Parts: sequence; structure tokens; C-alpha cells
Amino acid sequence: MSYDQNGFFVIKAKENGVNVIGLTRGQDTKFHHLEKLDKGEVMIAEFTEHTSAVKVRGKAEILTPFGKIDTDE
Ligand code: TRP
Repeated sequence: MSYDQNGFFVIKAKENGVNVIGLTRGQDTKFHHLEKLDKGEVMIAEFTEHTSAVKVRGKAEILTPFGKIDTDE
């Protein structure tokens, strides 16, 4: 399986303490990474062999190949 450019996304925190939670790929879907972002911090990430889904908790702007999403809307 390839994880190309379309697997990338950007998260910009709009408040302190935004949680970016990485979920495992495969049969079991578990939390494997918790990244905390403060206001204005940006995380550039991708989907990988280990990460199939991401959960964002808190006020943030998320840029994906499908468009921009604001968690507070
Ligand atoms: N070690 C993780 C991986 O290679 C790092 C990671 C990649 C990650 N993308 C992520 C963590 C998205 C949280 C959210 O899959």
C-alpha cells in the first residue's frame, strides 16, 4: 500500500490544548499517539502504515485534500 501526498493534512490549533489523536491501522483501532497543540501551533502529518485515522479534539482548522474543516462549526 502507498501513502502518497493525498495522505497529508494540516492542523492549526485555534486554542490551547488541542488534541490530535492518532489511531492505529489494522484490525484493532486504538489510540497510539496523542499530540497536544497550543494556539497557533501547526501540525503537518500524514497517514502511514501505522496511522489510519486521526481524531481532533478542540478548536482547530484542518486542511485536507478534500477541503478545509473547522472543528467548531
Ligand atoms: N509514528 C506515527 C506513524 O508513523 C506518527 C504519525 C504519523 C502520527 N501520522 C500521524 C501521529 C498522525 C498522530 C497523528 O504513523
